[in-house]
Amino acid sequence: MKTLKINLIDKSYPIHIKKGLFHNIGKKLKKIYQGKKIALITDENVYKFYGEQINEILQNEEFHVNTIVVEPGEKSKSIEMLQNVYDKLLDFKITRTDLIIALGGGVVGDLAGFVAATFLRGVPFVQIPTSLLAQIDSSVGGKVAVNLPRGKNLIGNFYHPQVVFIDPDFLKTLDARFLYDGMAEVIKYGCIKDKNLFQKLFNYKTKDNLYEHMEEIIYTCCKIKKEVVENDEKDMGERMLLNFGHTIGHAIEKYFNYEKYTHGEAVAIGMYEITKKSEELGITKKGTIDLMKELLIKYNLHYEMKNVDQEKILEAIGLDKKNVGSKLNIVLLKDIGESFIKLVDKEEIKDYI
Ligand code: GLY
Repeated sequence: MKTLKINLIDKSYPIHIKKGLFHNIGKKLKKIYQGKKIALITDENVYKFYGEQINEILQNEEFHVNTIVVEPGEKSKSIEMLQNVYDKLLDFKITRTDLIIALGGGVVGDLAGFVAATFLRGVPFVQIPTSLLAQIDSSVGGKVAVNLPRGKNLIGNFYHPQVVFIDPDFLKTLDARFLYDGMAEVIKYGCIKDKNLFQKLFNYKTKDNLYEHMEEIIYTCCKIKKEVVENDEKDMGERMLLNFGHTIGHAIEKYFNYEKYTHGEAVAIGMYEITKKSEELGITKKGTIDLMKELLIKYNLHYEMKNVDQEKILEAIGLDKKNVGSKLNIVLLKDIGESFIKLVDKEEIKDYI
């Protein structure tokens, strides 16, 4: 088993990564949690594959589990869903000494994490991410949030789990589209911090070959995220590098009402479009965009922004929570593995789209 420890001023917690780890989660939890009650939050898709198993695994250790199953998809990160989940926690009489588990992808992790952060002003929680995107990004680093009708993740908090359990075997039941969705974020880590990772991603010839290396890929990404989050937990500086491709990506997701592109697919387009411009402007080393395009195609990702009204994309960027007054922080590459943050006027953003 590979373990990373996130060390923050107020909290430290481990991230355990191992194929087959899921089956030992009950025993591992028993060591860190002395209570009995667990509210397990998951979605219908994950419940279908793992609902019975996780209940059995936890009940074998004599935990009392109440499972809350939400609809899959971004729409569950809503205020209405929050109310619904809080009601179920009240019915189950969850107290601050009990435990909430998030078993699922990014939506479940963000929703359950936000619930844990706010219910009774904070209940301890554990992340068991089941999608690649959640395993390498959203389950690590404490960002939890729900959406408002006018934008994604507009209400949230920094609230860290007690522990993150990552089992790459979960990815075997993940739709290919969502595996590649996560690969967009893997490519992002390569682009912003790790040329070696970026280059290795060209080598995996088949999906099976990719799975064989998945533990190592997840470890590498989580290690980068750990270092970034330890340096800048509250997203005031270096952590913004993780938003490479996200300014345009979030705007594209919103433009298509979160229906046409997954998060990773939109980020892939965002990374490509901004780098195409920055290379034209002489900011990024020549040839970077060709390498990026080749890798995005290899992992079935779109790269060009098509059929959009540029004005509406700019309007969506204007509502992005990363805005600083009339300015906006964007992330650019000097080269693969070398990124930096640039504060630009909102007017100037046109030059990068
Ligand atoms: N997903 C970006 C971050 O955690 O900061």
